[in-house]
Amino acid sequence: MLNFEKKFLHADVLYKAERTAKSFNNIELPEAGNILFQSENFLALSLMLKKYSRKIDLVYIDPPFNTMQDFFISDGRANTISSIKKSKAYSDKMPLEKFLAFMWERLILIHELLSEKGSLYLHIDSKTGHYIKIILDEIFGADNFKNDIARIKSNPKKFHRRAWGNEKDMILFYAKNSQQNIWNDIKESLIEDEIIKKFPKIDSSGRRYTTIPLHAPGETKDGITGQAWRNIQVPAGRHWRTNPAEFDKLDAEGKIEWSSNGNPRIKKFADEHCGKKIQDVWTFKDPQYPVYPTEKNHDMLKLIIAQSSLSNSIVLDCFAGSGAALVCANALGRRWIGVDKSEAAIKIIRENNVGEYTFIAVNC
Ligand SMILES: C[S@@+](CC[C@H](N)C(=O)[O-])C[C@H]1O[C@@H](n2cnc3c(N)ncnc32)[C@H](O)[C@@H]1O
Repeated sequence: MLNFEKKFLHADVLYKAERTAKSFNNIELPEAGNILFQSENFLALSLMLKKYSRKIDLVYIDPPFNTMQDFFISDGRANTISSIKKSKAYSDKMPLEKFLAFMWERLILIHELLSEKGSLYLHIDSKTGHYIKIILDEIFGADNFKNDIARIKSNPKKFHRRAWGNEKDMILFYAKNSQQNIWNDIKESLIEDEIIKKFPKIDSSGRRYTTIPLHAPGETKDGITGQAWRNIQVPAGRHWRTNPAEFDKLDAEGKIEWSSNGNPRIKKFADEHCGKKIQDVWTFKDPQYPVYPTEKNHDMLKLIIAQSSLSNSIVLDCFAGSGAALVCANALGRRWIGVDKSEAAIKIIRENNVGEYTFIAVNC
């Protein structure tokens, strides 16, 4: 458990949210469709509690990383360097202690908004991320922690500091309920070298394949997978992978390879391989010339959305920036709710391809 100033009790944060929402009770949120808030996000999340508690299936957030910088947009390009025609996108200058209290309150509200099958992906850097992990363990429960994804964000940098280079940041992935989170089991295709290694044989039609035995470890005493197939006994300590009747079908389809001494093996074709499990080190470099500072890689966001939401899910990003997550949610046919307090961000989101939405601007 982490202690910091202004770490209010869970119930007090919810009470503060309720009071905040009451003072804006003239604002009615739509039941359906996308929503874009130009607003401070504690306020927007408070307003959402009445209609959207336990209804959001996926939250992706990329809060300011506590970088002690101002971010600008000049001549349609994002940067951190002052220039004559600059306009400020946002400021990221909160001291750590204040930042933790800021995140604590917002994460409590996000937890309230997530459905039982919901997930949170929180994008952060390693300077601040470990503190946030402790906070998230407290709010979500350590059992609901799923992954700390290392994301390779850039090409290696030649920093002059006396330390290793830094080409990654982290995405903390939590489920509201670790047994129920939406998981579409999206897999990754093999790369060419892996295909060649895994499928070294080529058949007469040019298809790459490998072969595996018909049997697997473990004996079945009386079951069908322990009985002889075409007078071939299953080797001791093993059982047929499937009902031997299936082998007749495979053989008829040319999917069994017989060795010269009559040993059968199942053919597994590269073009039928369903892909490999995606691991927790990702390479998704951010756009080289982003339209907004810290605009994130769209393919990465699409992967998160495709993996952890359904077609009728609502995706929330309450630190929306350029609206990259909203663009991707829209492209994948998901409903979305976006929040940002920066005028520059809202302008860019509105120019982006995010589909139709209700726009709500609230000043606090
Ligand atoms: C790191 S950027 C997000 C970039 C975004 N993921 C993208 O791909 O474009 C963080 C954003 O959070 C917004 N922000 C920071 N504090 C906020 C707050 N309290 N309420 C609403 N937006 C906030 C900033 O204006 C900024 O646009």
